[in-house]
Amino acid sequence: MSRIAYVDGFYRRLSEPHIYVEDRGYQFSDGIYEVCLVVDGQYWDEAGHMARLRRSLEGLDIPFQMSSASLKIIMREVLRRNRLRDALVYMQISRGVAPRDHPFPDKPTLPVMVMTVKPYSLAANDALAQKGIKIVTMPDIRWGRVDIKSISLLPNALAKQEAKSKKAYEAWLLKENKITEGSSSNAWIINASGSLVTRPLSNEILGGITRESVLKAVTSLGLKVEERAFTYEEALEAKEAFITSASSLVMPVTHIDDQQIGDGQAGPQTLKLRDAYKQVARPS
Ligand code: PDD
Repeated sequence: MSRIAYVDGFYRRLSEPHIYVEDRGYQFSDGIYEVCLVVDGQYWDEAGHMARLRRSLEGLDIPFQMSSASLKIIMREVLRRNRLRDALVYMQISRGVAPRDHPFPDKPTLPVMVMTVKPYSLAANDALAQKGIKIVTMPDIRWGRVDIKSISLLPNALAKQEAKSKKAYEAWLLKENKITEGSSSNAWIINASGSLVTRPLSNEILGGITRESVLKAVTSLGLKVEERAFTYEEALEAKEAFITSASSLVMPVTHIDDQQIGDGQAGPQTLKLRDAYKQVARPS
């Protein structure tokens, strides 16, 4: 993590204390967040991330007034103060500060925005993509509105910890023996007949912005897409598998629960799709 953050109107050192004890984000997870990638000072999939930020705010009825132009100015300033041109930008908006009580405060609070940046290396991510990643699976124990990008991430953090303890990169979550998504990514397979399969949008997955762009990129490669839930067994029998997210782009999966997928190497179609995705997401 870098040294300077934007916290509710001020640029502050991360080492300084600045948490409001009664911030509803802190006490109730009553807030939303967004993560977007900046490479060489350029924002990838920017419009999609901004649009989802608004959808998440609406989903929780948080009256955040700041324009996207102002948000972008702050983003640029946080990057500048941390001397970064390649980074993951994290922005979080909570409902605000109010005496602790479950319902929303009668007198509307001012939402509290926090922004941090973390150095990112596209070259390192590209190198990882050549090797591919291992994933593990576990039950999806999250709430019923994971389409809202809320900061309530304890089940996701527990799943990622479990993956880490098994030396895997990501955890795929299972509901009724079907994969919903990863703990911080969307899940995809390419089956024996060459179709790309990924779960359709619903309350049960986060609508990934990378997922959206990959669906656009797919048309340029002439691949067939099936937006439907797929089973654990289908995943194990897949020709290729991969995850998508702002930080991992399109990342090949070589093993699921220690079982080899395809020939156990990063899938060639997946790597092509990764290139095609870059064309779509990178601003021209
Ligand atoms: N995670 N599903 C979940 C549960 C996620 O947390 C994410 C993103 C995605 C992919 O969304 P996108 O393609 O818009 O990044 C899917 C971010 C990166 C995070 O939590 O850090």
